Amino acid sequence: MQRLGLFAAALPISLLLSCGTAGPQTPIASIHPAAPAGLVRADSGMVVSAHPLASAIGERVLREGGNAVDAAIAVHWALAVTTPWAGNIGGGGFMVVRLADGRTASLDFREAAPAAARHNMYVDQQGQVVPGLSEYGHLAPGVPGSVAGLFALHDSLGSLPMARLIQPAIDLAAAGCPLTGHEAHELNAARPLIGRHSTRPNAFTSRSSWAAGDTLRQPELAHTLERIRDGGAEEFSKGLTARLLVEEMRRGGGLITAADLATYHPRWRPPLQGTFQGMEVITMGPPSSGGILLLQMLRGMETADPSIWTGGRPALLHRMIEVERRAFADRAEYLGDPDFVRVPVQELIAHEYVDARMADIDPSRATPSTAIRAGSPVPEAAHTTHFSIVDPMGNAVSCTTTLNGAYGCGVVVGGAGFLLNNEMDDFSAAPGAPNAYGLIGGEANSIAPHKRMLSSMAPTIVTRNGRLFMVAGSPGGSTIPTTVFQVLLNVVHHGMDMQQAVSAFRFHHQWLPDTVRAEIGAIQPADSMALVEMGHVIRIRHAIGRADAILVHPDGTLEGGADPRGDDRAMGF
Ligand code: GLY
Repeated sequence: MQRLGLFAAALPISLLLSCGTAGPQTPIASIHPAAPAGLVRADSGMVVSAHPLASAIGERVLREGGNAVDAAIAVHWALAVTTPWAGNIGGGGFMVVRLADGRTASLDFREAAPAAARHNMYVDQQGQVVPGLSEYGHLAPGVPGSVAGLFALHDSLGSLPMARLIQPAIDLAAAGCPLTGHEAHELNAARPLIGRHSTRPNAFTSRSSWAAGDTLRQPELAHTLERIRDGGAEEFSKGLTARLLVEEMRRGGGLITAADLATYHPRWRPPLQGTFQGMEVITMGPPSSGGILLLQMLRGMETADPSIWTGGRPALLHRMIEVERRAFADRAEYLGDPDFVRVPVQELIAHEYVDARMADIDPSRATPSTAIRAGSPVPEAAHTTHFSIVDPMGNAVSCTTTLNGAYGCGVVVGGAGFLLNNEMDDFSAAPGAPNAYGLIGGEANSIAPHKRMLSSMAPTIVTRNGRLFMVAGSPGGSTIPTTVFQVLLNVVHHGMDMQQAVSAFRFHHQWLPDTVRAEIGAIQPADSMALVEMGHVIRIRHAIGRADAILVHPDGTLEGGADPRGDDRAMGF
């Protein structure tokens, strides 16, 4: 890992060595029943991803001397095959990298709006958002960023040949992957979506029903990946794959053109850096909102009365909910693509600002979201996938990548075998109109040609005393920052190991709608009653997030946390 001109300066070593609060901690939630009983530990390298085959491919790259970035590239290609609901070459994502010597970088390979996109393209003559238009079919995808992103990453930090890193994915696509029960269920659920919007036969709807153990073969995708192996990033941006994508757009009335594909570029951006309990938190800045939300929420907990950590669960849950509510109110107002709008990043994460923002939290009453507006900083979505990697040299990668909704917009590129994203739904289609995650937005996140839509992804790396401490992230749309927030608190404040921390049930508040969404088991019945008496509205919902994380102990040993909400797997050596 020598070609490092794009990296930020070495991290300052924090002088604040303490972490956590003294005294017994209040356990926050019960643990998911599907959590593995044992803990995956390793001495040298580890990969945690959404699929056992992808984790195994990444682990093998590390064993063969590849670095964490090589493994990340191989895992990303593999997930595009094993995990078609989120793994992708037709989507985009964000990656945070920390090298063993402390230098950090982040890569934005987020999708961008096509040149023909317009501010009101999802709005009818009456000014109403047309339901589904930004979510399904050919008008929903942004220009994909994943292939360009993986090659940019490889050019800067890779050490093994790209052909070596992509070949396992090609082999898997050609030979086929045995489906787990989860995957068969997901594919069956997506059949109407893919069937309605794809214009050519495809692997996913080649059977009327899938069952656990069936083999999903993707020969067209295998050929596409072979062409990319041989032709590089240009095959996707200008080659046959680009032509097939543009033809698909023409057949379905989509907007992405050859020029859009040829002019797309991933962007290296300085990672967002903040502190929590003396630890350094390195995370993703705009066009993702994830890092800003995470840092605001962590600061909101750091300044809470210390008694909330020992004073019973309702007080702690209440504080967390109120902190989440206020952070999300800022998201709606200020956040968008920094290449198009001024995002007051440093102002939003400044401790003085966050402290003032959290100062009106009433410890005994819920603040209605209608009483909260975005603050005034002093000038100065469910189907995504995340993986975390640490290599034997101590380099770390945290990557979240997505098609947005499960199976994206449902369009499989005819002849190329991959799904396109529906990321245009992450723009604010009209002021105040909620997207698929119920998130609302304003002008900062309105649609414009080439603009990148606001994300919630929060790939994060945490260091303590200048040493790697945790690599974490999650899918889950708007619930991503709250998931990472709660996983971190579970380790730091509740003494959980990495597996328990990702397995523990979670809850989420995002300002609007004004409800706490909680997994069954996240809030005990008695606590729930106490919170309702304080004025909170609680709704049960299905899985929140799917976090995959690695904890690094002071002696360098690694502990994996693979989320039991899916088929996720930690593997190390
Ligand atoms: N598509 C979900 C997100 O970027 O937050």
